Amino acid sequence: MTIDPIDPRRVPRFDHGSRVPGWDEAVDLTKDPAEVPDPATTPVPDDLRAAIEAHIAKYPERRSATVPALREVQERYGWCTPEGIEQAACVLRLTPAYLISVATFYDMLETRPVGRNTIYVCTNISCSLCGADELYTTVRDEVGDDPEFNVRSFECLGACDIAPMASVNGTYVGPISLDEVPTLVQQVRDGAEPLPDKQLARRRSVDPNAASRS
Ligand code: FES
Repeated sequence: MTIDPIDPRRVPRFDHGSRVPGWDEAVDLTKDPAEVPDPATTPVPDDLRAAIEAHIAKYPERRSATVPALREVQERYGWCTPEGIEQAACVLRLTPAYLISVATFYDMLETRPVGRNTIYVCTNISCSLCGADELYTTVRDEVGDDPEFNVRSFECLGACDIAPMASVNGTYVGPISLDEVPTLVQQVRDGAEPLPDKQLARRRSVDPNAASRS
């Protein structure tokens, strides 16, 4: 990732120019062809198996449950570990390679170890115009090198009316002012609700003065 040497507070970019990671790693053609894991030699935790099978039951094709199955793996292990992918592939009766191709395509499926607490700060146009770049760097500074956090800038999260906003462990919060960041990060560390008054799900209206649901 490249940091702007002139203004290090600008949102850093990856070498391919985007603010989000890419999925441009080449396949390893020297490896043997992938096989569907053998259930006899692939132990799968009972609760993980049950969760994946429940997803499979919703679709006519087993492979349609690939993304929710990978989410189950991520929830359990914190990221899509090789072991978890092997287990999901065993239940889905697909190759691990197929699951890896899906996991590396979708931005919110992690294929490397990351912190369990995700804060996705939207830095797309509406949020950017409302100070998202500064919000992003402020959140990163507040989190520091705490390994329990995964802070990323993100493209439009579809909640432009509460810009600048972030998705905090899946909860949409905004508009977030810079002086609220320490509180927000501490709430996440404490396992508390992030900025309850700023949560999109509790709002009756984008009007910040409108009543909110508890
Ligand atoms: S630009 Fe930030 S939610 Fe749309």
